[in-house]
Amino acid sequence: MNILLIGSGGREHALAWKIAASPLVTKLWCAPGNAGIAQDAECVALDVADHAAVIAFCKNNNVDLVVVGPEAPLATGIVDDLIAAGIKAFGPSRLASQLESSKGFTKDLCRANNIPTAAYDRFRDAEAAKAYVREQGAPIVVKADGLAAGKGVVVAMTIPEADVAINALFSAPGAEAVIEEFMEGEEASFFVLCDGDNALPLVAAQDHKRAYDGDKGPNTGGMGAYSPAPVFTDVVRERTMNEIILPTLRAMKAKGAPYRGVLFAGLMITSDGPKLIEYNVRFGDPETQVLMLRLMSDLVPALLASVDGELKHFDLRWFPDPALTVVMAAKGYPGDYRKGTRIEGLGEAAQVEGVQIFHAGTKSENGHIVANGGRVLNVSALGKSVSEAQRRAYAAVDRIDWPEGFCRRDIGWQAVAREKEGK
Ligand code: AMP
Ligand code: GLY
Repeated sequence: MNILLIGSGGREHALAWKIAASPLVTKLWCAPGNAGIAQDAECVALDVADHAAVIAFCKNNNVDLVVVGPEAPLATGIVDDLIAAGIKAFGPSRLASQLESSKGFTKDLCRANNIPTAAYDRFRDAEAAKAYVREQGAPIVVKADGLAAGKGVVVAMTIPEADVAINALFSAPGAEAVIEEFMEGEEASFFVLCDGDNALPLVAAQDHKRAYDGDKGPNTGGMGAYSPAPVFTDVVRERTMNEIILPTLRAMKAKGAPYRGVLFAGLMITSDGPKLIEYNVRFGDPETQVLMLRLMSDLVPALLASVDGELKHFDLRWFPDPALTVVMAAKGYPGDYRKGTRIEGLGEAAQVEGVQIFHAGTKSENGHIVANGGRVLNVSALGKSVSEAQRRAYAAVDRIDWPEGFCRRDIGWQAVAREKEGK
């Protein structure tokens, strides 16, 4: 079959790598792709915001399935438009995508269905929001209601900090805020494939959102990840399925917006059990890089079963070995950074045992790979332990010659510490 993958990040390179390995696939395109994806797929310069152009490409090239990576085209209804044009598409509809595009929608859905999450209220003006913060006290969490690429959340440790966040948020016209209780615990990213009625649990991973070692510095899209997440035990998974995921699927169906595609639950594992921080309606980045390394089964039949409503008896097999990925970013990220700097040594790095390098913001220029974004490479490895996967990934990082890049040196620290304690 012919598949078109949409996106250009490390997540899409990992998906392209896995999809291209499927014996079911005759041809894989990726729009727009990147220099690494070009090794696994034919990259096409399509404007993915132009749904009509995507549909025309699919018709002209007999595309059997479109796999949508990022949230932005989902939120504008690319799946609805493809399906209306008779083309199979993996991912949620525009209405179902509200689980990510509107924090208020998701919080209200949780409240109406007793899904465990932080207590909250929604606000349209700064004064009411500040009054609520005074009532609740700090620490407290201030969130913009809308897609913000992970940058719309402030965890305020004090009331003045919350006030600053509220002022900043409401300086934009028409802004809306969700203000919620601060939850304590360890975070995990859990992924589930859904077909409207049924949910097939994938595995969990842990992300590292802060830019610098020791979980310091500004929030980013994610600086590294590993899977499995030790905090996500079988008991936690069962509770998450029964208390969070399945009630969400039932509620979405009842709203006339059945959820199909991958559902990514950002969870806080608290002393009371798992609580939902947020949903994303797509695969995680960089979590997908470790998920695809660990997935033993063919991904393509699972994507098709999600589209076709046939996940009920579906199963996937996973390598028990942990995987870890280190994000290499351009110096300055998540703030301003330079593009166009040259990266050498990728071939040598890829030779380290167990290592796979997924590209994010890269492009080819005169036969060289150059940086073309903030997050640029995902140096990923499987190992017998998280410690071994970590050693392999950093051995590969050390072979990459890119003076304009940086990475965290402590990805996986929580799991490595657990392994050292023998837990
Ligand atoms: P979000 O974009 O909603 O995932 O939030 C980004 C990050 O902020 C999360 O990964 C958490 O680290 C933190 N966060 C968000 N909501 C809460 C909360 N209610 N309590 C504690 N931390 C939170
Ligand atoms: N790594 C977090 C995300 O994909 O949003």
